Amino acid sequence: MKAVTIHAHGGAEVLQYENAPDPIVKAPDDVVVAIRAASLNAADVQVRSGRYAGPRVTLPRIPGRDFSGVVLEAGSGSDILPGEEVYGVCPHTGEGSHAERIAISSRLLGRKPPELSHAQAAAIGLAGLTAMVALQDTLNLRVGERIFIQGGAGGVGSMALQLARHLGAFVATTAREVNHEYVKSLGANLAIDYTKDDPVRVIRDFDAALDAVGGDRSVAQTFGVLKPGGRAAFIGSGMVAPASPRADLVSLRPLVARSGESMDRISALVRSGALVAPPIIEMPLSEARKAHELSESGKMRGKLVLVP
Ligand SMILES: NC(=O)c1ccc[n+]([C@@H]2O[C@H](COP(=O)([O-])OP(=O)(O)OC[C@H]3O[C@@H](n4cnc5c(N)ncnc54)[C@H](OP(=O)(O)O)[C@@H]3O)[C@@H](O)[C@H]2O)c1
Repeated sequence: MKAVTIHAHGGAEVLQYENAPDPIVKAPDDVVVAIRAASLNAADVQVRSGRYAGPRVTLPRIPGRDFSGVVLEAGSGSDILPGEEVYGVCPHTGEGSHAERIAISSRLLGRKPPELSHAQAAAIGLAGLTAMVALQDTLNLRVGERIFIQGGAGGVGSMALQLARHLGAFVATTAREVNHEYVKSLGANLAIDYTKDDPVRVIRDFDAALDAVGGDRSVAQTFGVLKPGGRAAFIGSGMVAPASPRADLVSLRPLVARSGESMDRISALVRSGALVAPPIIEMPLSEARKAHELSESGKMRGKLVLVP
C-alpha cells in the first residue's frame, strides 16, 4: 500500500510518500480498514519535527492519529465485520493512519454515524475524543459553570466549545480576532484576542479551564483565570499536569484513552446535534508535505483531512 512515512525528524521535507507493507490481521479482534479519510492533528506535526512531548516515538513510522474508513478484513473475534463503516483513534503504539490501510483492534473503533462523511468523522476523531475526555471525564463540567478554553479555534478547542455549550456552561475563549465570529458560532460567549489582550486581565474567578495550546505562558494564563477551588486541564504541555502556582487550584492531565465505547459516546453527541464537524480542507495523502506546511502556517481554520 501507499503511506506517508517519517524516517527522520525535521521539516515537512522529511515526509515520504512511498510503498509500505500491507497491514494484516494479527489478533482475533483485529480488523484491516481501508482508510477513506484521516485528519492531520497538531501531534502529527510535533512527532514529525521531534517536538512531541508524549510517549517516546520510534522511527521509521507512519504518522496519523485518527481515521474513518471501511473494514476490509476482520479477525475471528471481531464484532465489526467486513463492509462496515468505522472510525477511530489510533493507539500510541503501532502505525498511524496516514496510509491507504491500517490494522487495528476492533475494540478501539466505533461505527461511523451515517450523518457524517468519512472526512467529517476523521476530523472529529482525536480532537473530539480529547475534548470529551477533558470536559466530561476530567473537569466534570456542570451546568451553569464558567469555563475558559485556551485556543478555541483549534482542532480540540472547536470541539471543546461545542461540548461546553452542550453541557450548559458559560464559555470564554481565546482566538485571533479573525476567528471571533467562528468561535462564537461554536458556543463561545466571550472571545478574547490573545494577540492583544491577556485573558487574566479580562476574566477572573472561573470554575474550570482547558488549556488546548500549551507552553509556560498559556499554562500561567489558564491557572490565572480560576477562582479558589478551580479545576484546570492541560493537553498541550506533555503527559503530566503542570504544577499549580496556587495551592487552592486543581491541575489535571486528561487521560485520553482510546476505546470503542468512547467513539460510541462521540457518535451519540453527533446524533443529538451537540457536536458538528469543523470546516474541512481535503488534500490527497500524496500531498502530506503541503498539508503539514499549511498546518504550521498558523492560518488554518478547522481541520486538514488527508484522503488516500
Ligand atoms: N491526546 C492528547 O493529549 C492530545 C490530543 C489532541 C491534542 N493535543 C495537544 O493539544 C494542543 C492543541 O491541539 P490542536 O490539534 O487543537 O491544535 P491546532 O488545531 O493547531 O490549534 C491550535 C490553536 O491554538 C491557538 N493559539 C495559538 N497560539 C495561541 C496563544 N498564544 N493563545 C491562545 N491561543 C493560541 C490558535 O488560534 P488562532 O487560530 O485563533 O490563532 C489555534 O487555533 C497541541 O499541543 C496538541 O499536541 C493533545
